[in-house]
Amino acid sequence: MPQTLAADALVLLGATGDLARRMLLASLFYLDADGFLAADFRIVATARTTLDRESFLTQARAAIDERLEPIDATVWGRFANRITYVSADLAKPGGAAPLAEALAGVQRPVFFLAISPSLYIPVVNALGEAGLAGPGARIILEKPIGRDLETSRQINDAIGAVFSEERTFRIDHYLGKETVQNLLALRFANAIFEPLWNNLTIDHVQITVAETGGVGARWPYYDEYGALRDMLQNHMLQLLCLVAMEPPADLAPDSVRNEKVKVLRSLRRFTRVDAAERSVRGQYGPGVVAGETVTGYEAERGQPTGTETFVALRADIDNWRWAGVPFFLRTGKRMPEKRTQIALQFKPVPHSIFGQASTQDLAPNRLVIDLQPDEDIKLTLMNKAPGLHQGGMRLQSLPLSLSLLKTFEGPGARRQIAYERLILDAIGGDATLFVRRDEVEEAWRWVDGVAEAWAEARIAPKPYPAGSWGPPGAFGLIERFGRDWSD
Ligand code: BG6
Repeated sequence: MPQTLAADALVLLGATGDLARRMLLASLFYLDADGFLAADFRIVATARTTLDRESFLTQARAAIDERLEPIDATVWGRFANRITYVSADLAKPGGAAPLAEALAGVQRPVFFLAISPSLYIPVVNALGEAGLAGPGARIILEKPIGRDLETSRQINDAIGAVFSEERTFRIDHYLGKETVQNLLALRFANAIFEPLWNNLTIDHVQITVAETGGVGARWPYYDEYGALRDMLQNHMLQLLCLVAMEPPADLAPDSVRNEKVKVLRSLRRFTRVDAAERSVRGQYGPGVVAGETVTGYEAERGQPTGTETFVALRADIDNWRWAGVPFFLRTGKRMPEKRTQIALQFKPVPHSIFGQASTQDLAPNRLVIDLQPDEDIKLTLMNKAPGLHQGGMRLQSLPLSLSLLKTFEGPGARRQIAYERLILDAIGGDATLFVRRDEVEEAWRWVDGVAEAWAEARIAPKPYPAGSWGPPGAFGLIERFGRDWSD
């Protein structure tokens, strides 16, 4: 691999926006605090809002202070010194000029587009026209990249005309989560799992991404996308790919991404019949979440809408490794708890040698990868229940933690923001944890198939009360295939 030179500046477009405030400024600050930013690394914050540097720094400081611990004054001073603020509207003709001026002397900027996706094309064009997209420059884009395959291609074409693919870093923030990377370590740094990681031993896989929050003020975006496009097309399919992919030859960006694309290509296309039998759409109504009474999505939206806030479906990967192993995916807003989890359920023992009472306790092994709220990887193994029992040996299931991450969660420990890893990699030019164009497009191709099948079969979202695990059909779906959602 050719040596990639690290970026010398990060240009944060949308620096006064929601993502910058919630995630990006704190991530940059922590990278600085942990010594990952070179002494002369610059941060150029830009947005349309007219602000002087001091006012921007006050905003940035407030955003960072919102995250738990008191921050170190020396680090803050160093961090603040890196920052300049430029007010610019890149969507207007000649609007990139103030930015170009601020970037004089910068050789290898990395542009982070924390702006509305509707501005991606004009902003990227403006960067190109202002001469800011030279061979040293990189670009980071957030999802959603399009709303379907067609619109995704349009955006990718426009970006590709200005930044080559190797210089385009598409973020899926789930790939920056520690446990997701730990899944790679678990699979490929241990020899014991891989021989079992297939349809001979694994009965099925479940991926759950449940959130307690509702859509709220984000409805203008969300109503156009729904759970299928907001969560399943990206985060959940990425998790599915990392569980299902073949071992890559190394961790080079294309080695990993080639394997992920093969999985996406092997996903069986949804049909109209599958829409009814293998998927459930839901939309939350009023209810109670964590003791709090909340309104339904329609009340937030202000009018009836056919957008789903919950989706559960069975996906099948048609290849040698996974033929016959269902992947059950479910995601929803206003669920009873926050839970992001991948569970691999192994097949039961072929024959029980234990008495009837013990056989009832005999549960198949399960590997559970918890991403949120806690990070852990647990393997449940059957054990002899300690002590004396009448009528033969009793069995008990033992969850064995296989992860060090929990030990990093003790007092004083800081939970890393997923964006820290990703920003650091983009600065260093390592695209392994970013999504390549063909991956995004293959994911859209499959998701478009689901959306089309829903439209053909006229599947409308079924209501579910906020604070429940989705419409009753979500349980019916998995039970139809002889399984249960894990708890
Ligand atoms: C975003 C979605 O990509 O991920 C949101 O647009 C969702 O709707 C969020 O709430 C969930 O992220 P996390 O890291 O909290 O699981």
